[in-house]
This record gives sequence, C-alpha cells and structure tokens, in this order.
Amino acid sequence: MAIWVFGYGSLISKAGFNYDERLVGFIKDYRRVFYQGSTDHRGTPEFPGRTVTLEPAQGEICWGAAYKITKKEDQEIALTYLGVREKQYDRKEYVDVFTELTATTPAISGALVYIASPDKKVNVNYLGPASVEEIARQIVQAEGPTGPNREYLFLLEKALLQIGCQDKHVIDLANEVRRILSEEQ
Ligand code: SIN
Repeated sequence: MAIWVFGYGSLISKAGFNYDERLVGFIKDYRRVFYQGSTDHRGTPEFPGRTVTLEPAQGEICWGAAYKITKKEDQEIALTYLGVREKQYDRKEYVDVFTELTATTPAISGALVYIASPDKKVNVNYLGPASVEEIARQIVQAEGPTGPNREYLFLLEKALLQIGCQDKHVIDLANEVRRILSEEQ
C-alpha cells in the first residue's frame, strides 16, 4: 500500500527521498509557525535556529506538498531518512490533504506529517512565539550543519510562492531578515 508524506517546511522544496507523485495541497485547522528550535540543522545548541512547526488553528489552512511513496523498499528508505532529518520533531500525525478550497472530501487521507510539539518536556528545543523582530534576529544569527538559518527561510518563502501560497508569517519574517541584513552592510 502506498504511503503519503505531507511537507510544510523544508520538505516542500527538497524531499530528499524517492517518490512517485507530488501533490500540492493544504491541511485544515493548522498554521505554519517558526516556533521550533533547530540545534542540528540550522543552528547550534549555543545559537539555535528557527524552523517551522504546525500549531493547531481552528478554521485556518496550511499549504504544502504531499509525496506519494509506492514501493515498500522506497518507503523504508524514506522513513529511515526522515526519522533522522526530522528527529527534533517529536510527533507524527496523520492528516487529510485537500487540493480544492471548496472540497469536503480530501484528496489524500492519512498523510504522515512531522510536528514539533510545544511540550518542552518532550521537545526540549521548542522556542515558541516571539515578535517578528526577535525571530528574525535569531534567524540572522543562526547557522548549522545544513547551512544558514536565513537560507531555510528564503527557500521556504520561494517554495511557497512557487506553489501559489502567500504565507504572511513567512513573508513578514523574510522581509525583516532582509531589512536586518541590509542594515548590517
Ligand atoms: C516539513 O517540512 O514538513 C517539516 C519541517 C521541516 O523539515 O522544515
């Protein structure tokens, strides 16, 4: 049986595993927020970066990309790979993915999604809400083994625009990071 993985962050622009189909869509009652700390990819324990997680938000939708993995062997490789890549995300949820705003039945049922919960007891890296200025300053400062945190933000901004999604939280942060960087020059 095929499985689907729904990506709403770096997975939109880079799956990193073999898949058979990619479907742009959204999930309901969640919003994308730069509240997760990253000490392994886009930051360090001293200067944690910020990456996106999902926050429950009744009535809101979050756009992303879903990947269908058909072959058993590809599934095993993908899940092992994602287990490492998403290891600072403490929860796996199974969500319905929609492609049409007016649809009542999902295009995909039970797509796997990685979430970083706000429970500091199980998710020690969770950073939580802060002002746009504060989050942007952290992003400017942070860099980890995968690269600068700002690159993560800009790649996400671009990937979202490519799928036709205007995410105010992401755009505001990207604009603020660009403002800070232009001041630094
Ligand atoms: C995702 O992309 O779905 C998870 C968060 C990330 O890896 O950026």
